[in-house]
Amino acid sequence: MRKPYMAGNWKMNLDRAGALELAGALREHVGQREDVEVAVAPAFVYLRDVIELLKGSPIRVGAQNACAEASGAFTGEVSPVMLRDIGCDFVILGHSERRHVYGETDADINRKVHLALEHDLDVVLCVGETLEEREANKTEAVVKRHMTAGMTGLSEAQSRRVTIAYEPVWAIGTGLNATPEQAGDVHTYLRGVLEGLYGAAVAETTRIQYGGSVKPANVAELMSVDGVDGALVGGASLKADSFASIVDFGG
Ligand code: PGA
Repeated sequence: MRKPYMAGNWKMNLDRAGALELAGALREHVGQREDVEVAVAPAFVYLRDVIELLKGSPIRVGAQNACAEASGAFTGEVSPVMLRDIGCDFVILGHSERRHVYGETDADINRKVHLALEHDLDVVLCVGETLEEREANKTEAVVKRHMTAGMTGLSEAQSRRVTIAYEPVWAIGTGLNATPEQAGDVHTYLRGVLEGLYGAAVAETTRIQYGGSVKPANVAELMSVDGVDGALVGGASLKADSFASIVDFGG
């Protein structure tokens, strides 16, 4: 009953022509399919072009980050108000590169989550442990903190607009993916935490994506895991044929 949700995080890749070519190929591949939800997150500067190109397609378009402020003197930042204004559907928040390269804290991410939802953007909230944290048996504590802190203060209605992406940091861009068992354990754990926070109905309907070196060759196995509701895909989302295959669960 949870519709699979496959999202491509293009990160700081592609030029305008490449972004449009990729979006066009995905539009063709996805057509008007309703059995799977497909989304792309281009760089800020190409969002508007990709949104225009995907008009009439069910593919959703989102940003990879947003500011925690609506407007004002924040040089270099982009407000969720602006993202909504140009037609974005969602925003990815708390990605590990934002946390670990740019030093975003759980409190920063929580403020961004609130502002994005206030301005009618859905949220993909990323959570995930580093290798060091996994080896120290802190995986559950870390993902619980990321999710709980990221969602602090959300109403039940707001929580329904959040998708969780479990992305073990050690699996992102490394070619190492979590085993189905590792992913299953964390997804089950997170759903239990969600139930404690928002009740069984929210836990049952919230999609939890897996992310970290998802590719055509491993997507079927990951998607067969109970509680894995989709994928957040970096590298393998940059080529139309590989992301199309991921959308088809490797088929
Ligand atoms: P990857 O990135 O698929 O290249 O590992 C995933 C992500 O960072 O969302």
